[in-house]
Amino acid sequence: MADLRFEDLVKHFGGVHALDGVSGHVDDGEILGLVGPNGSGKSTLINVLSGHYEADSGRVVLDGEDITDRPAHRIIEMGLARTYQIPRPFSTMTALENVSVPLMFGAEPKSPGEAREAAREWLEFVGLEAYADEPITSLNLHQLKYLELARALAARPRILFLDEVLSGLNPAEVNESIEMVRRIHDSGITIVIVEHLVRVVTSLATRIMVLDRGKVIADGDPGEVMRLPEVVTAYLGKRAQSA
Ligand SMILES: Nc1ncnc2c1ncn2[C@@H]1O[C@H](COP(=O)(O)OP(=O)(O)OP(=O)(O)O)[C@@H](O)[C@H]1O
Ligand SMILES: [Mg+2]
Repeated sequence: MADLRFEDLVKHFGGVHALDGVSGHVDDGEILGLVGPNGSGKSTLINVLSGHYEADSGRVVLDGEDITDRPAHRIIEMGLARTYQIPRPFSTMTALENVSVPLMFGAEPKSPGEAREAAREWLEFVGLEAYADEPITSLNLHQLKYLELARALAARPRILFLDEVLSGLNPAEVNESIEMVRRIHDSGITIVIVEHLVRVVTSLATRIMVLDRGKVIADGDPGEVMRLPEVVTAYLGKRAQSA
C-alpha cells in the first residue's frame, strides 16, 4: 500500500517560483509520468516530497501521516526512495560499496555481509554486476544513473521516484530500460517517472501530470493529457524529443 498526497506546495529560490502551489497525489500501484519543460519544477517536487528540500509552505501526507519537513532518511525508511537527476555517488567507494553502505544504516540495518550480498543482487538487476568492485570513476554517466537506481531499489521502497534515469541512452538501451522499469513496477513498486522522452512516458505511464513554471497545468490519462493544447504549447511544442 502506498498513498502519497501533497497540497499547495510552494518552493521559491530567490525570485524563482520553482513550485508555485502544487497539489496532487500518487496512487498505489500506478506509474505516474511527471513531465514539463526544463525548469518547470519536476526535480524540485521530487526533492520536496523525498525530504531533500524543505518546502516554504504546503503539506505532504504519506499513508495518512503528515511527513512535511521530515528529514530525508526518515522518509526513505517510510518507503519512499528516489534517484537524483545528477548522480551523487560516494566518489571514493566502489560501486558495490555505494549500494551496500546505506543498507547498513536506517531502521533495519543489515550486517556488512548481508548488505554486500543485497547490493550485488541489485547491481545485477540493473546490469552493473561487472562493475561491482570498480571505483566510481570507471562508470560513465548512464552507469552512474543506474547505480542510483540500484541504490534506490536496495532501500526496498514502496514508491520510487526516477528523475531522468533514461536520459542519454540510445534507442535500443531506451527499450531495455522501459522493460526494466516495467519489471520494477511488476514487483509491486509504485513509480513516479520524470523523463523528457515522450515515448518513454507515454508507453509507461498510467497517468501523467504536467508542470509548467511551478504549476500543475494538466493531470490525467496519458493519451488525453499529451494532446491538450496547453500541454502542447508548454511542452511538446518547444521540447518534443524522440529516440
Ligand atoms: N537548489 C536550487 N537553487 C536555486 N534554484 C533552483 C534550485 N533547484 C531548482 N532551482 C530552480 O528552480 C526552477 C525549477 O527547477 P527544477 O530543477 O525543479 O526543474 P525541472 O523541471 O526538474 O527541470 P529539468 O527538466 O531541466 O530537470 C528552475 O528555475 C531552477 O533553476
Ligand atoms: Mg529536473
